[in-house]
Amino acid sequence: MTSAAAAPAAGVLPDLTGRRVHVKVPATSANLGPGFDTLGLALARYDELEVSVPDAAGLDIEVHGVGAGEVPLDASHLVVRAIAHTFARAGVELPPLKLVAHNSIPHGRGLGSSGAAIVAGVVAAKGLLEGIVEFDPDELLALATELEGHPDNVAPALFGGLTIAWVTPEGPRHKKLIVHRGVSPLVLVPEHEMSTALARSLQPESVPHEDAVFNVSRSALLIAALIQSPELLLQATEDKLHQHYRAQAMPETDRLIRALRAAGHPAVVSGAGPSILVLASDPSERAEAIRLVEASADTVWQALPLAVDFKGATVQAA
Ligand code: HSE
Repeated sequence: MTSAAAAPAAGVLPDLTGRRVHVKVPATSANLGPGFDTLGLALARYDELEVSVPDAAGLDIEVHGVGAGEVPLDASHLVVRAIAHTFARAGVELPPLKLVAHNSIPHGRGLGSSGAAIVAGVVAAKGLLEGIVEFDPDELLALATELEGHPDNVAPALFGGLTIAWVTPEGPRHKKLIVHRGVSPLVLVPEHEMSTALARSLQPESVPHEDAVFNVSRSALLIAALIQSPELLLQATEDKLHQHYRAQAMPETDRLIRALRAAGHPAVVSGAGPSILVLASDPSERAEAIRLVEASADTVWQALPLAVDFKGATVQAA
């Protein structure tokens, strides 16, 4: 962290009253098949928030859209926790806050809603502290990863596009890549939720060496397929590290992915599930995949054809 002006002493409260920022954060799909905890893609569906510093003390939160009436409206709200975490790291006392959230990223479906909330809080804090404390991209990624636990959703939510994220002793790092314009993502979202904690609990402590090698080859190929050679996407999205271990917790997701892949569509579990990501090569392939799911599913699945978001999170003075 670097200071733009004089670095504030720990716990000081610069007068932020009246500051207001508008934040927009994309949905994300992590893993993309073989890239467990590493690869992520930003998608053009957004949560938007206005965060301001009123002159009255306290915390005032309004949530509209997804999560309204469900998420907590106190200091345990994930966006507020991320703002507080970022202020604490900057050594600035948390001011009174008013948050108005308009959410459209589905919760508990593997589309990065918790990562988006964390990133929203981190970049809102950055915007509120503009001119007082500056954060570089690695610091933003580190702050968000500390709360999320792994960097594969928060990296594309912060930076957009396709991201490779990795962890070093100095903290998480990322590389952003621009996806081939022929890639047409389709997300299929079921009505039921899946807990990431449950999905992670199904992972084994160790995996066979040959499975690790299998995923190394497919992850490397997937980068080539996504940026240059979409015709390789079906082979490049094969995985032996996570999806089959978790299949018992989301049997319909597993069955539909098998049917989609058998028909030639590069379908994978989106993040920890239960949504499905199809990395289609053109809009007509998306339509075929939607027809196949409509014909085979036992429950209702919402089809979301989503463009790749290339910008990532934005924050502007409002
Ligand atoms: N890589 C993570 C997982 C993404 O699959 O558990 C979900 O947070």
